[in-house]
Amino acid sequence: MKTKAKFMLTHAISADPACEFAAEVRAGLTKIPQRELPSKYLYDEVGSALFEVISVLPEYGLTRADQRLLQRHAQEIVEQVPGPIAVAELGSGSAKKTRWILKALCRQQHTSYFPIEISRTALAMCERELGDIDAMSIVGFEREYLDGLLEVAARRRNGQQLLVLFLGSTIGNFDRPAAAKFLTEVRQILQPGDSLLLGTDLEKPIPQLLRAYDDPLGVTAGFNLNILARINRELEADFMLSDFRHIARYDEEARRVEMHLQSQRTQRVTIQRADLAIDLQEGETIWTESSHKYAPGEPFQVAQAAGFHCKAQWVDHEWPFAENLLIAE
Ligand code: AVJ
Repeated sequence: MKTKAKFMLTHAISADPACEFAAEVRAGLTKIPQRELPSKYLYDEVGSALFEVISVLPEYGLTRADQRLLQRHAQEIVEQVPGPIAVAELGSGSAKKTRWILKALCRQQHTSYFPIEISRTALAMCERELGDIDAMSIVGFEREYLDGLLEVAARRRNGQQLLVLFLGSTIGNFDRPAAAKFLTEVRQILQPGDSLLLGTDLEKPIPQLLRAYDDPLGVTAGFNLNILARINRELEADFMLSDFRHIARYDEEARRVEMHLQSQRTQRVTIQRADLAIDLQEGETIWTESSHKYAPGEPFQVAQAAGFHCKAQWVDHEWPFAENLLIAE
């Protein structure tokens, strides 16, 4: 018997999002000596579409590696998690690669899927992508990750296991202490035996990484600059995009790629709705994103410290990347 997939969206009703955006932009842009912007704001409608393009660039192997692993090992992965199951995905994006896991699960049992995303655009993409899977219901949460996960956990039925998906190396956006703290917080929401499938991009030669984050077509540059365009649109700012340059650099100590926007001249920028004017020096940068790279053994240690154990790991060798299956202890 076929069950028709059903999609619902639960909207955040908390704080005014424009206000929160303004407050975070204000806090980040006044940070001295290094100004910054939270990377989550890269993903508006334009940014999400540009990221989709990045993910098919020949220089950016990350998404393809993630997809290959999930496609190849979906069956094996779901065999490790006992049912019945509810799946919560943190930062579903367009959820293309989630398809393999969900299909493998739905072959065995009816599955509830809860994508959690602050980007409404991404949630909509996710619905389009996965709405056709039989024996699955979808309820999307337009929330921050932990808020959304709390809600999903509150809805779980007796005896239902939770499988949390945190794919695509989104964890790489957190610095190492923040990643450890985040996993600990996820663990606190879970019950013993619940699982977390965690995707981590692995260390690789620096030139290869820099090409991936500064592609010759300039898509990543556009993706990065869009955060300024977004601030112009939504917060009535006057960033001149042509006065900024996209930069990707590797910090060998922190083992991360950093994206910055470098001011090409001394200039004043006004952000009306954040009640802010800043003076930028020529050459000064605004730090917009970090992508931390992991050693293959690192997820095992990180898991342990957060109250999980890493039960299995699948590695792609074409573009070193790992899917790690963590079990809550
Ligand atoms: C979606 C966070 C995994 O860090 O590689 C791609 C985002 N930024 N190119 C990454 C991104 C620039 C991506 N993540």
